[in-house]
Amino acid sequence: MSTRRTRVAVIGGGQNCEHEVSLASAAAATAALDPARYQVVVLTIGADGGWRDEGDRPVGLAGAVETLQGCDVALPLLHGPRGEDGTVAALLDLAGVPYAGSGLSAGALAMDKWVTKLVAGAIGIATAPGVLLTAATAATYTWTHPVVVKPVAAGSSRGVARVDRPEQLAAAVGAALALDRRVLVEDVVEGREVDLAVLARPGGARIVAPALEIVVAGGVFDYATKYDGSAVFRVPAPLAEADRKALEHAALGMYDALGCSGVVRVDFFLTADGPVLNEVNTTPGFTGQSQVPRMFAAAGVPYPELLDILIQDVLAGAS
Ligand SMILES: Nc1ncnc2c1ncn2[C@@H]1O[C@H](COP(=O)(O)OP(=O)(O)O)[C@@H](O)[C@H]1O
Ligand SMILES: [Mg+2]
Repeated sequence: MSTRRTRVAVIGGGQNCEHEVSLASAAAATAALDPARYQVVVLTIGADGGWRDEGDRPVGLAGAVETLQGCDVALPLLHGPRGEDGTVAALLDLAGVPYAGSGLSAGALAMDKWVTKLVAGAIGIATAPGVLLTAATAATYTWTHPVVVKPVAAGSSRGVARVDRPEQLAAAVGAALALDRRVLVEDVVEGREVDLAVLARPGGARIVAPALEIVVAGGVFDYATKYDGSAVFRVPAPLAEADRKALEHAALGMYDALGCSGVVRVDFFLTADGPVLNEVNTTPGFTGQSQVPRMFAAAGVPYPELLDILIQDVLAGAS
């Protein structure tokens, strides 16, 4: 066995509205990886789409691929479009670089909230009834009851707005259309927000971490609430046994139906009628204080160990 440290490319940033959030995930992971065992190679995708090295020097796409090919494994911590949506997974596949997390198809399917809804419906998991609008069809929609308007593919609550009065609709649809060509208009779901984390291990075992409940004072878990520390996470979430089982069953069902790998976060509303799926995040927020690391910490797996598991599992599969 070689004593050489494992070279890990930690990829953060991204050309999307979650750039800053991803930088925080990447910085936290970089700091938490044991320097005695891991040599971290930081690569950042700028808000302009350009790749940069550790010293913030532009390296170009070809330079980035060369750097990646010199690493043993990549840990992409990109959230949102042109990152989490399978694009970077595809690049790593083509470059022959093993990586932690979901591949192209799971990333693309989960990034698309409309397709996620279709897949959930096909396997009997409830989601909010919704309609899809584009700039061409937006005017045909008539508001009749409170809805949530959101881009089909974004994240960090960017472009998400609750519309309680008809005169708020046009601005909400316009803001969502600024982030995506397709917009979802969903019925408001009344329920507790409960997240589950699913991790597949080599050999096929899957671990579901203790559920986490987000307690938000104002209702919508918006961008400010996500990152100003005002939301309270309850983990493990207090759950009736039947609800816990239903949530775990649905989370595993979505993991398999979308074909996920590594760790994903599956977000639900827990209603009086049981779980209603909100979304699946194939690259969930990954600072030490983010939901998934908090859930695994509650299961006795501290953040550095979770990173270790993700990386070692890839190496085990790649060797
Ligand atoms: N149909 C809905 N009913 C009630 N609240 C919703 C609904 N959709 C979204 N929300 C609220 O908005 C937040 C952000 O929406 P979400 O679809 O999760 O977008 P993002 O991918 O940006 O996290 C959710 O965490 C929740 O608080
Ligand atoms: Mg969300």
